[in-house]
Amino acid sequence: MSRSAHPAGPRHADVLPEGHYSAPPADLNALDPKVWAQTVTRDVDGVATVGGLDVKTIAEQYGTPAYVLDEADFRARARAWRSAFGADADVFYAGKAFLSRAVVRWLHEEGLNLDVCSGGELATALSAGMPADRIAFHGNNKSVAEIHRAVEAGVGRIVLDSFQEIVRVAHIARELGRRQRVQIRITVGVEAHTHEFIATAHEDQKFGIPLAGGQAAEAVRRALQLDSLELIGIHSHIGSQIFDMSGFEVAAHRVVGLLKDVRDEHGVELPEIDLGGGLGIAYTSDDDPREPHEIAKALTEIVTRECESARLRTPRISVEPGRAIVGPTAFTLYEVGTIKPLDGLRTYVSVDGGMSDNIRTALYDAEYSVALVSRTSDAEPMLARIVGKHCESGDIVVKDAFLPSDLAPGDLVAVPATGAYCRSMASNYNHVLRPPVVAVNDGEARVIVRRETEEDLLRLDVG
Ligand code: LLP
Repeated sequence: MSRSAHPAGPRHADVLPEGHYSAPPADLNALDPKVWAQTVTRDVDGVATVGGLDVKTIAEQYGTPAYVLDEADFRARARAWRSAFGADADVFYAGKAFLSRAVVRWLHEEGLNLDVCSGGELATALSAGMPADRIAFHGNNKSVAEIHRAVEAGVGRIVLDSFQEIVRVAHIARELGRRQRVQIRITVGVEAHTHEFIATAHEDQKFGIPLAGGQAAEAVRRALQLDSLELIGIHSHIGSQIFDMSGFEVAAHRVVGLLKDVRDEHGVELPEIDLGGGLGIAYTSDDDPREPHEIAKALTEIVTRECESARLRTPRISVEPGRAIVGPTAFTLYEVGTIKPLDGLRTYVSVDGGMSDNIRTALYDAEYSVALVSRTSDAEPMLARIVGKHCESGDIVVKDAFLPSDLAPGDLVAVPATGAYCRSMASNYNHVLRPPVVAVNDGEARVIVRRETEEDLLRLDVG
């Protein structure tokens, strides 16, 4: 991910060099199943449909912009992860990608566990009936109140992220008369993004306790001494949008190395290892993500091999996919407002949302695709940039995309693969109201998170 973008957006001269972008796709009307939710297709009139419902109807009933989520696809992906890992492993959906009470219920029904990282996420999970013992509580700076609530609720594990937290959780658990199951999150000196990873001795970041310098071993020592903690394992999360499994290989090697040291020093074989999330999805047709069963097979083999060579019993594995489950299941539906062709450059297409509903393009230089979905078109492709309605030139949703040159105000366009980290990172910048999440299944749509209203905004503003 590049961080080279100008803070205020692209400079005027920041025009991509000739030939930088790929050629227009052979068929602008095609909806590549790699990037679109499973049930997305076009009806006989050329209007895109999801779960059997066409986008024009969805736009009429629920307005735009809207996140439209394919419930069958969400459930299918959750099930695929669950069955790929089988009964000897646990899948914790990472709620930070997108969490709502409907999602919690789907996860519960499909047999997944849930990773939360704030009091708000915990409250959402509990209020939708997720059994507390299937919840993992994460975060590098959990407040005392949050820890108290989590222990009291009986969460299945708290992932300890610092030396202070070992003591804090132990103290709170003791006060409440509990023995809290915990894991220790360590940093193994592996940073992975997309097709590359970097393995180093140290990691310069805020999460976890470094393996380097014996710090992780010291954390284990302290946790084992505290009666109110039950140390069940070690946790490692190495990055985001990862396609290449070799980063996990190095991470597992280092985690197992620690498990071996713990066995040698304390005579204890910790029973669990959590390898975090971070598995990549296709945002454009150029991305080739792996299937859950391939990932499960690769991770299980890596851990088993490492444990065999360290002569350890293979621990129970858990993983925390967020993006890989929810990311591909939703698209953002926008209405085109204005169209500005800039001669020799590109055409700016303004939609009725923007960086408030998808900050990822501005924040990470993330790539997305876009398609005209309210009709098909045989017009020539034009190079377009999809921008929002915010007062900021960096308010870009899709940096470079091809759309038909007869695109007109009032057309509906959709950006696929926006299920993860779009609604969950949405803001009210410019007092723009956050869009709803509409779940579609079997020809029926249901609002699972409603659109924000001006009343909602003003309710917080107490004058
Ligand atoms: N487990 C832990 C401990 C994590 O920190 C994360 C993500 C996950 C699991 C889930 O990762 P996933 O499978 O969804 O990649 N806002 C960024 C991503 C930040 C992820 C932070 N942690 C984005 O939009 O790409």
